[in-house]
This record gives sequence, C-alpha cells and structure tokens, in this order.
Amino acid sequence: MYAIVTGGSRGLGYHLAKELKKRGYDIILIAKDEKRLKKTAKSLDAKYYALDLAKNYKEMKEIIKKYSPHVVVNNAGFGIYGKLKNQDWERIREMLNVNVYAVTYITKIALENMEEGYILNIASVAACGKQKNLSVYAATKAYVAHLSKCIMKEQKDIHISYLLLGPTRTDFFKNANMPTGYLEKLMMDPDKVARYTINKMFKGKRKIVPGWIYKFYCLMK
Ligand SMILES: NC(=O)c1ccc[n+]([C@@H]2O[C@H](COP(=O)([O-])OP(=O)(O)OC[C@H]3O[C@@H](n4cnc5c(N)ncnc54)[C@H](OP(=O)(O)O)[C@@H]3O)[C@@H](O)[C@H]2O)c1
Repeated sequence: MYAIVTGGSRGLGYHLAKELKKRGYDIILIAKDEKRLKKTAKSLDAKYYALDLAKNYKEMKEIIKKYSPHVVVNNAGFGIYGKLKNQDWERIREMLNVNVYAVTYITKIALENMEEGYILNIASVAACGKQKNLSVYAATKAYVAHLSKCIMKEQKDIHISYLLLGPTRTDFFKNANMPTGYLEKLMMDPDKVARYTINKMFKGKRKIVPGWIYKFYCLMK
C-alpha cells in the first residue's frame, strides 16, 4: 500500500514518511529540490517526484491516480515572517499556492480517487490565535484546519485528520526568516511529533495537537 507525503524531503515530512514506512507503507515523496529529495528518497527506499507545488500541483492528479494511495499527507508548506505591508507579493502568492491551492487540489483529487484510507493535512497552532508578523501564513493554516473539519462531515470511508503543530525544530524558521528567540525553549522534536501524529491518525483522531500547552491554546479550533 502506498503513502504519499508532500514536503517529505526534510523536516516534519521526512519523519512522517519514516513513521509510515515503519508501518509497512511504500512511500512516495514529493518536494521541490530534486537533489535533496533524491537523497531522502534513497534513505527511505521511496519513490519520488520533484514538483514545485506553487506551480505544478495539478501534476499530482496523475501520481494519485497511478498509485491509488491509502494515505495522503499534505505537509509541504512554508511561512513568511514580517508585516504584511513589507512582504513580497510574489512570495505571498507562492505561499498561497503551496499552503492553500495545492492542499485543496490534492485533497480533492485524493477524495475522488481513494476508496478508503487516510488524509492528513498539516496546519499549525498559528491558526489558533492572532499572529503578528505571520498574518498570511496563519490565515493559510486556519484555512487548512477549517477545510479539513468541513470535509470530515462529507466522508465515510476516508478518514480526515489535521495537525495543529506548535514550534518544531526544522528549517521552517530559517526559510521564513523568522527569529526563534523564546520559541527555542518550546521547540518540539520532529521525530517525536511525527510518531505521535501518525499514532493518533491511525487511532482515528481527527484533530491532532501535540503538547498540552497547544491543546489548551487551540481548544476552540
Ligand atoms: N516547524 C514548525 O515549527 C511548524 C509549525 C507549524 C506548522 N508547520 C508546518 O509543517 C509543515 C512542514 O514544515 P517543516 O517544519 O518540516 O519545514 P521544512 O523543514 O522547511 O520543510 C518544508 C517541506 O515543504 C517542501 N516545500 C516547500 N515549498 C515547496 C514547493 N513550492 N513545492 C514542493 N515542496 C515544497 C520542502 O521541499 P524542499 O526541500 O524541496 O524545499 C520541504 O520538504 C509545513 O506545512 C509547515 O507550515 C511547521
């Protein structure tokens, strides 16, 4: 059985793919940087497709049709730190494409083509409050959480989960040009987060929030 993980070349996505592999899945990784992707795919004995999901997310249709996955993880994503007025518009558009359009498209295509299985959408605790300097990113993740909650009601045989993730030690902050400061003390390990998330998903949990601080913070989401 196949599991597709977008953004599986590094960070959380890599660890989620590793957890799925441990459970016997054949892994298919999607990411942008082919060199890194190839290296990670080799370490997981996985198939891979280098796609820029800001532009080429529709190519996911053929991949999903070809493999009929049992698990699809929408993990690829990034943030932009700073006041909205200072952010670069093209970069914002890219982020909306990856975090919103690609996630929506892949989810729709997966629902059309899967008979049963799991879809896991990676949101963020940023969706749970007013995030100064992360406005558009937080809004994209609120969208992912809300989309996931709504489509749950439409499904019977496909289990939808979403992850409200707190600060986790990956390249996310460097890519977002975001200072970590006090967050350093709160950072979670991506391997532990991934194990927790995949366990919860297979136990049928729909809203997954690692860490009690974040469970409290995201009570209403
Ligand atoms: N780390 C945190 O504290 C945190 C907290 C809340 C939510 N999240 C969410 O967790 C998810 C994983 O992020 P991470 O923390 O693991 O960050 P990361 O280490 O920077 O990994 C991001 C992954 O997304 C892929 N990606 C980014 N843009 C892409 C594009 N245009 N096309 C295809 N793939 C693309 C990257 O591929 P390349 O390697 O090819 O660039 C990489 O595999 C994201 O959705 C993020 O928003 C992270």
